[in-house]
Amino acid sequence: MAVIVGGVGTTHVPSIGKAIAEKKHNDPYWKPFFKGFDYVHYWLARTKPDVAVVFYNDHGLNFFLDKLPTFAIGAANEYRSEDEGWGIPVSRPIPGDAALSWHLINALVADEFDVTMCQDMLIDHAVTIPMALMWPGPIWPVRIVPIEINTVQHPLPTLARCLKLGRSIGRAIESYPQDLRVMVVGTGGLSHQLDGTRAGYINKEFDAHCLDKIVGEPDALTRYSVHDWVQLSGSQGVEFLNWMAMRGAMTGRVSELSRNYHIPISNTAAATVVYDNQRQAERKAA
Ligand code: DHB
Ligand code: FE
Repeated sequence: MAVIVGGVGTTHVPSIGKAIAEKKHNDPYWKPFFKGFDYVHYWLARTKPDVAVVFYNDHGLNFFLDKLPTFAIGAANEYRSEDEGWGIPVSRPIPGDAALSWHLINALVADEFDVTMCQDMLIDHAVTIPMALMWPGPIWPVRIVPIEINTVQHPLPTLARCLKLGRSIGRAIESYPQDLRVMVVGTGGLSHQLDGTRAGYINKEFDAHCLDKIVGEPDALTRYSVHDWVQLSGSQGVEFLNWMAMRGAMTGRVSELSRNYHIPISNTAAATVVYDNQRQAERKAA
């Protein structure tokens, strides 16, 4: 059976792609951010996931304001990026796992999550930047299942809904008969606002509160409405919805293995975390 080995949360600021291409890892501006990935690399080398289920938000590449699903899931064997607008190198294509995608889609719809299913889906910096950060070498040794959450056009789904979506995905992964090691990823955030009079807004205290609560008490965060979130975390801080879904997908006992928080990267508070998901079977065996 498939197991969920844990999760990674990371920002997806596009200028990171440029910094990687220009090898700026040790520049004073970038070093404290990239350092946060040392543990991620160690954990991935040890954990060896086969598949990454990636919760992210599209920024107008695959979906635009004319047709925008609340939740969409990729069901392809390959995902291309055509995200050229930020001056970053266009990423290599990433292999998918269509069979697992269809299993998840069937389980989600049976669970009353009527998702948009995409046999052709372009992915943007919200997927490719985290991949490049997690696997800095020439090979990204996982297949992905991208799950897109609307954080762009209101009304957005609630935090509670995204947590439930994640839980449904978690149950679905664990009912997949193949022996796969699956990690879950939430991209974006934390607090940031790119436009308007509050452009550059960051809320360090609120970010710390979110990082504390999401580990053991994610339900406590569902008391905030999306509009509260915009106020407290900035208009793009709502990308935390992807983190809520990632957390929901971890069905075991979750603990924080590492946390890095650095401000700012571009306009964004950059958080990098690794979560362990101790499964029930492991707990019993211990
Ligand atoms: C930035 C942050 C984002 O989440 C994004 O999608 C694009 C840009 C930024 O801070 O520059
Ligand atoms: Fe973004």
